[in-house]
Amino acid sequence: MKGKMIIAGNWKMHTDAREAGALIDGLVAWCKANPVNVTVVVAPPFPFLADAVQRVAGARAAEGGPQVLIAAQNCHEAENGAFTGEVSVPMLKSLGVDACIVGHSERRQYFGENDPAVAVKVALLLKHGLMPIYCCGERLEERREGRHQEVVAAQLTAALGSLPPQELARMVVAYEPVWAIGTGLTASPDQAQDMHAFIRGELHRMAGAGAGRIPVLYGGSCKPDNAAGLFAGADINGGLIGGAALSLASFTELVRIAHHG
Ligand code: PGA
Repeated sequence: MKGKMIIAGNWKMHTDAREAGALIDGLVAWCKANPVNVTVVVAPPFPFLADAVQRVAGARAAEGGPQVLIAAQNCHEAENGAFTGEVSVPMLKSLGVDACIVGHSERRQYFGENDPAVAVKVALLLKHGLMPIYCCGERLEERREGRHQEVVAAQLTAALGSLPPQELARMVVAYEPVWAIGTGLTASPDQAQDMHAFIRGELHRMAGAGAGRIPVLYGGSCKPDNAAGLFAGADINGGLIGGAALSLASFTELVRIAHHG
């Protein structure tokens, strides 16, 4: 039995204050009008997080109101300190942020984020009660060389291998083949399901029986026209959505597909 599906939108460095507010309000209104058995998560840019938390909190407080979780796109690995321009996990916690993406391939590629740093971030997020959404995935040449499983296994072990099983069970993992992110190329449903089954096996090795409950999301050019095939995979528990999360129509369509899939 698959657990509850998750659709998480990663807005990256897009939207301005007005657009971000409108997108959140539209999403909350849609979820209220269309009760779905899907956990909806959105990750706006840092400056809009406080406003986003307030907009969803009002809706959550209402009787039977929709559950839209707010995630950050990154955090620093120290709890505080002289790190100009950085944002800490306790800061996010104090705002009421629910979750945080860590180890996204864009952060690995452009900002030198590596698995030892990610491991610290994951542990810190769990300590403060935020849900880490840990991203892993191989590059194109690694897939061409047939090393995709080896690469992802190494990422998982380095970032999550030292967590106690009960902590690991509070994570979300996102498999995002780097060659599919923002490129319009998508893993086929079979390629995605094969990797998700492999990741599930690795998580099982680390967390034991609790691994079955860890949601594993697919990310990489996931859109309404390819989502149904992907979400049907036995080990695919939803999606981490970039481009298609910036339009209310396509994001809510993905939520709808996850609900019915
Ligand atoms: P994309 O991005 O859907 O635009 O490919 C996914 C992601 O980076 O999380």
